[in-house]
Amino acid sequence: MVTLLPVPDIAIIVVAAGSGTRLDAGAPKALVGIDAHSILRHALDGVFAAAPAQVIVVAPAGYEGDALAELEAAAGDRRDLGRVVTGGATRQQSVAAGLAALWGDVTTVLVHDAARALTPPTQIDAVAQAVVPGEGVIPVLPVVDTLKKVADGAVVSAVDRSELAAAQTPQGFPRAELEAAYEAAMADGIEYTDDAALFAAAGNRVRHIDGSARAFKITTPGDLERARHLLDASTPAARPASIEPAGIPRVGIGTDVHAFGGDGNLWLAGLEWPGEQPLSGHSDGDAVAHAIVDALLGAAGLGDIGEHFGTSHPEYSGAHADVFLARTRELLAESGFAIGNVSVQLQGNRPRFSPRRQEAEAVLSEILGAPVSVTATTTDGLGFPGRGEGIAVTAIAAVVVADVPRSM
Ligand code: CTP
Ligand code: MG
Repeated sequence: MVTLLPVPDIAIIVVAAGSGTRLDAGAPKALVGIDAHSILRHALDGVFAAAPAQVIVVAPAGYEGDALAELEAAAGDRRDLGRVVTGGATRQQSVAAGLAALWGDVTTVLVHDAARALTPPTQIDAVAQAVVPGEGVIPVLPVVDTLKKVADGAVVSAVDRSELAAAQTPQGFPRAELEAAYEAAMADGIEYTDDAALFAAAGNRVRHIDGSARAFKITTPGDLERARHLLDASTPAARPASIEPAGIPRVGIGTDVHAFGGDGNLWLAGLEWPGEQPLSGHSDGDAVAHAIVDALLGAAGLGDIGEHFGTSHPEYSGAHADVFLARTRELLAESGFAIGNVSVQLQGNRPRFSPRRQEAEAVLSEILGAPVSVTATTTDGLGFPGRGEGIAVTAIAAVVVADVPRSM
């Protein structure tokens, strides 16, 4: 069956057209490498890990092809969401070029600096969700340093930092008001320090939400070092290749519980069970599949099901086991892991599992490309599975390092 994905009503304009004079790395800043990947690629990885949105990359003139390659690498199977446009001489002109490429269905626009390469996807989602008609939203951090007003080498006065905040991106706005504000600013020839200032100058309100330290802007060589450090610090924790003897598997555990509820047929262990009461949940409620996903992600140190498939990923609502498990297998492969085997046990009174055990094991093993065994038990009438209120599942998985990870 071909599923037509909904056209998003959010767009993210990623401005990457600056030259990076302060970084002074011999190339436009966005194309400078942090590790094996450029600043732009890291920024786009964050953008594509957030809820689906139209993604407009504003590239330096003459570097559109490089920007497109980064976009394609980050977008994966959502290449349909992205396009590249050419930037202008100032950041404001670059944003205007991005605005000209918005799809008709877009009602909320986020403007994001590529230079904030490590911005958490949760910050992008939080800004998008906080935008309401007539009001813009920016992420901010409290100012921690003591501030002084200075002139000609002298301290003129103190500044009350409790009244101040440091602005980050993405900054989110209702589309119509942002477009009108940009038209006015461009007509007046005024350059504003950021999109929120431009938006406010047109008489609109801007609210703030909490930003995060990881969303800092890479401006100087010291900032680039900080970004490298942060990536180095996170990667070996997930993949301690240097202390991981070759051939010894890593194991992970996953559990899931779903209550019976809702309409339709039960989906469990990758199979549809006609006539059985369904389990309720964000997806199809297949607790066996969900426990397996957590076991596999846990074994590989790749986070958990909420991070990769949770409610901030509406594209997975209603998805069945094949979608979750195939994507999980892909995530592991991308990080150099092969699946050894998976063992699952479910506790519940219904459905009677043994008549379809082999069928379920065959389906799950086929999707994961590794043996999956499923056992089932009742709980002697005890607890919620015993009372027939729901199902509890435990899975363990073994994974092995298949490839030498790319050095960071
Ligand atoms: N930007 C842009 N078009 C411009 C100038 C800036 O798209 N004409 C983008 C940058 O690529 C960056 C963001 O706006 O992602 C924030 O700008 P900044 O950090 O100042 O980057 P640069 O202008 O490239 O750096 P510098 O000011 O040091 O030259
Ligand atoms: Mg600049």
